[in-house]
Formats: sequence, C-alpha cells, structure tokens
Amino acid sequence: MNDSIYGNQKEILPKVMDQMVARIEEYNRQKIEETGHPVYEHLSSRIKAEDSMREKCRRKGVEETAEEALRGMKDAIGIRIITGFIDDIYDICDFFRQLPDCRVFKEKDYIYNAKPNGYRSYHMILETSQPYQDITGHNPGSYYVEIQLRTIAMDCWASLEHEMKYKRSISNQKMLVGELKRCADELASCDLTMQTIRDLIRSDE
Ligand code: GTP
Ligand code: MG
Repeated sequence: MNDSIYGNQKEILPKVMDQMVARIEEYNRQKIEETGHPVYEHLSSRIKAEDSMREKCRRKGVEETAEEALRGMKDAIGIRIITGFIDDIYDICDFFRQLPDCRVFKEKDYIYNAKPNGYRSYHMILETSQPYQDITGHNPGSYYVEIQLRTIAMDCWASLEHEMKYKRSISNQKMLVGELKRCADELASCDLTMQTIRDLIRSDE
C-alpha cells in the first residue's frame, strides 16, 4: 500500500533535490577556486513533510492528491541558500538561469520589494527536467524546486519572526509588529553597508 501524498514520487523527490544541491555545491567550489571566496555561507534542503503538505492542500481548498502536491503546490522540494552578501544572491540566481535543464517558473524579489512586515528574501520556483517518470507519466519528468535565497541577516530575522508568529496571544501585537519591521529595516541597512565594505576591499585585492 502506498498512502504517501507524494504517491510513486516519494522516492524520486530526494534524488531530484540532492542532484540540485550537488550542482549548487559544485558552483560554490568553482567560485572558491576562481575568486578565493564562497558564493554562499551554507544551505539547507528539505522535502516538505507529508502532514505540512496535506495541511497546505486543505488550506488552499484542493484535494490531497499527489498531482496537487507536486504540480499544484510547487514547494515539495525546497532549498534555502544563505549568503554573506546581497550581490551573492543575484550571482546565484544567474547561475540557476543558465542551467540547461531548468527554467524559472516564477520569481519574487522580496529584497527590492520587502513584504510589509519587513520580510526579505529572493524566491525562485524552478522547473527542472529530470530522467525520471513524473506524476503525469512523462519521462524525462518535470519537477518544481522552490529556492529561497537570503543573507545571514535576512535569515536571522525570518527565523525569529517565524518563531514568534506562532505566539498569537501576546499583547501589544501592533507595537511588536512595528518593532519587528524596524529590526528588519535596520538589518537591511547593515546588509547594504557590509556589501559596500566588501566592494571596497575587493577593489583593492
Ligand atoms: P505559499 O503558498 O505559502 O508557498 O506562499 P506564496 O506562494 O505566497 O509564496 P511566498 O513566496 O510568499 O512564501 C513562500 C515561503 O516564503 C513561505 O513558506 C516561507 O518559508 C517564506 N515566507 C514568506 N513570507 C514570510 C514571512 O513573512 N516570514 C517568514 N519568516 N517567512 C516567510
Ligand atoms: Mg511555500
């Protein structure tokens, strides 16, 4: 019996994810060799947990099927890349754009257009063609991969905000939302300064 929300794709998803991660890691190694500096600090990847995916389907009012989970939702495979500097994010985006078996399905620049709460990150949904039979029966198959790119500062803010979002009973909600927004803006200002400092140092190298 196969009662996974991912159906017969359950075993394939980690392979697609690991293959994408391996290519990003290889790109980082190349960058270190060429420039002496990594293009990101660290990354994490995950297959969305089955119960989270089921919960998301219910929230979006769609059936809990493998088709919805893999074609309707596009974040079953997720990779988060944490960089030191803002420019690194756009460098990595360009790397993804030139991959022959990938196309950018959708992208959102929450760095230039921060969310009203202060959230900043670059989100890309890639559609990649891979040598497996996908949920619609095509081989090579099509798989969506959600990539989130953030600086260390943006990630710090998003992690803490995510944690606090669940504590809805707190009083002074309005004031706290305002304070969180202020922190996000201050961190964004630091990111810009750090980028400028790096540019100055590199122009001397
Ligand atoms: P989903 O349907 O939930 O995927 O949202 P969406 O299609 O509107 O995508 P969006 O790009 O806005 O957000 C996708 C992911 O980005 C979320 O699952 C979070 O991981 C992250 N994210 C977006 N907004 C916030 C935010 O305000 N705070 C934090 N901490 N994370 C966020
Ligand atoms: Mg999501």
